[in-house]
Amino acid sequence: MNYQNILSVSKNGITTITIDRPSKLNALNKDTIDELHQAFSIANQDKNIKVIIITGSGDKAFVAGADISEFADFDVEEGSNLAAQGQELLFDFIENLETPVIAAINGFALGGGLELAMSCHFRVASTNAKMGLPEVSLGVIPGYGGTQRLPQLVGKGRAMEMIMTAGMIDANQALAYGLVNHIQAQEELLTVCEKIAIKISRNSSVAISAAIKAINANFKDGINGFGVEIEEFGNCFGTEDFKEGTTAFLNKRRANFPGQ
Ligand code: COA
Repeated sequence: MNYQNILSVSKNGITTITIDRPSKLNALNKDTIDELHQAFSIANQDKNIKVIIITGSGDKAFVAGADISEFADFDVEEGSNLAAQGQELLFDFIENLETPVIAAINGFALGGGLELAMSCHFRVASTNAKMGLPEVSLGVIPGYGGTQRLPQLVGKGRAMEMIMTAGMIDANQALAYGLVNHIQAQEELLTVCEKIAIKISRNSSVAISAAIKAINANFKDGINGFGVEIEEFGNCFGTEDFKEGTTAFLNKRRANFPGQ
């Protein structure tokens, strides 16, 4: 697949997607969002791909936000469509993907950039990373899920302060807030994410997809997460992976999951 704004490389069951607009600090324009949707769809449909890592090109930014030059003259309807389409195509899409997604935050993750990282299943940051939702400094609010996911991850009070001040937090603060799981030197960031990805890929991909569904259910209105867990738990008993996992344990050998 030929992309203009991103790179997608698959190796050893891991797809690494890199947003590649370093001169614009990897800002998310419409074409980039469309290409990301395609790249995530392709990786998710490939049963050999067990984990997706997303990062930004260059050493300065993960993503410095939605591309401000694209929406500066939008009216109310266009603004609302921008948020709705972006959420559907990329942010909700990633959060609900069957394949685990790790955000490797290698610099600024601002606005839509932090919203993108927050829609991933978890985040690892480089020591130079800076995170924030500065939208109110532009006279707008986060529109790609930031008002919902930031409080889920860091708590309501911290989210209120970050959004109201439009300020940035550094990697240490993000770690203390639980916004990122680990901090690494920038040159080690992808290696560490790959190590985590390899660990994940040794487990049952079918069970992992079920776990993602059940965990996400906790954050969905009108859905009983415990009920989803019961259903997904039961479904696992009908899978080849479950047979292999339990047989391997009882035979004191390492499981070799077929991913079915
Ligand atoms: N949208 C569009 N272009 C952006 C962008 C964005 N969100 N963020 C950065 N860029 C562009 C700049 O316009 C500049 O382009 P130019 O060289 O053609 O003028 C280029 O990326 C480099 O950015 P610059 O501002 O010169 O870098 P800096 O090191 O001085 O500052 C930031 C870095 C991240 C602090 C600053 O770019 C910034 O505040 N960006 C906007 C962040 C934001 O508000 N995001 C939320 C959007 S909803």
